[in-house]
Amino acid sequence: MDQDQFQQQHDIIGESVEIKEIVEVIQQIAPTDITVLITGESGVGKEVVAKAIHHASQRTHKPMISVNAGAIPEGIIESELFGHEKGAFTGASETRKGYFELADGGTIFLDEIGELPIGTQVKFLRVLESGEFMRVGSAVPKKVNVRVIAATNKDLESEVRNGNFRTDLFFRLRSVNIRVPPLRERREDIPLFVHEFTRQISEKNNITFGGITDEAMEMLKNYFWPGNVRELRNVVESMLIIERGKRIDANSIQKYLREFQDNHRNLPVYTHKTPEQAERELIYRALLEMKSDIMELKTILTQRQVPAETVAPHYVEANVDTADHETGERFIPLDEMERRMIISALERFNGNRRLASKALNISERTLYRKIKEYALD
Ligand SMILES: Nc1ncnc2c1ncn2[C@@H]1O[C@H](COP(=O)(O)OP(=O)(O)OP(=O)(O)O)[C@@H](O)[C@H]1O
Ligand SMILES: [Mg+2]
Repeated sequence: MDQDQFQQQHDIIGESVEIKEIVEVIQQIAPTDITVLITGESGVGKEVVAKAIHHASQRTHKPMISVNAGAIPEGIIESELFGHEKGAFTGASETRKGYFELADGGTIFLDEIGELPIGTQVKFLRVLESGEFMRVGSAVPKKVNVRVIAATNKDLESEVRNGNFRTDLFFRLRSVNIRVPPLRERREDIPLFVHEFTRQISEKNNITFGGITDEAMEMLKNYFWPGNVRELRNVVESMLIIERGKRIDANSIQKYLREFQDNHRNLPVYTHKTPEQAERELIYRALLEMKSDIMELKTILTQRQVPAETVAPHYVEANVDTADHETGERFIPLDEMERRMIISALERFNGNRRLASKALNISERTLYRKIKEYALD
């Protein structure tokens, strides 16, 4: 099959050399059982690559099970991956298969592999080497036929240096590494993405697309895209839905690009920064934004001490704030504050959990737990 057909079949958009090279590698390795490590920033399309590998392989009629190692609490990760025997631990009332058994014959996609606890890594390495593992609470090895694709947005090499990632596992995984470059390193793909996304989104939502001026397209091409393809898709979607058939020009596009939204605050613009600089600036902005959120909350709290009807800010949800009738003070429950902060951090970073967790000064795993807890996913 030629490359274009292959890309069409697997929904891989892109005509840059970078994408073409990735597609070539996918085509070469898909039919084998070789373990693949996919690296790249959040939103670059790692899962798109993983799916293409699975679907272009013999295993396509068997399941591809996606597991996010960062989202599973450490305490249960082994039983999730490898299963457990009845009675293996408190609460294990039934024998349960883990993801490796469920994926037998197919593919397991282990996302955020950098979050795998160090103790579990050795067991994972064993599955990679021999296909063998043991359910928690069992001493009998089981064997599965599973193709492993792992992904991470972390720099595993520095994780190895910091002692968070086993060297042997790192080398085992690294034998085939597909690095998906950030969108800003393949800007020539941007018009194609815009074209495809406008087509898909306008079709799906039954809206017409009024076109885009060259100047506006140039701005899209020059933007930094910290959230990569996912962010571009979101921008195109909001643009289409809000502008409803109007032609998008340089002026109207600014609303949708963070760089321009933030300009009036005299904050640094991150167009030509290194990823590290850009990340630091994003965090800095998020902190400032949170500070202003807190100020806003403070204002609400003080305003709320005068009769509600004189202020009644529209953004106060009555069912959330609890009044202390004794003192007349109003409080927002801490968990509600937390929930709001998490939402605002996630919005700020376009759903990038790594950056959001940094800004909130909690671990990515804790953030995942809280996202689940507050049902924000
Ligand atoms: N080359 C591409 N062609 C078509 N769509 C793409 C491509 N790259 C990314 N996308 C789209 O961008 C979004 C993000 O892609 P994906 O989920 O694969 O990213 P990711 O690298 O796994 O991100 P994360 O690290 O946050 O999990 C998805 O909607 C996906 O369909
Ligand atoms: Mg992903």
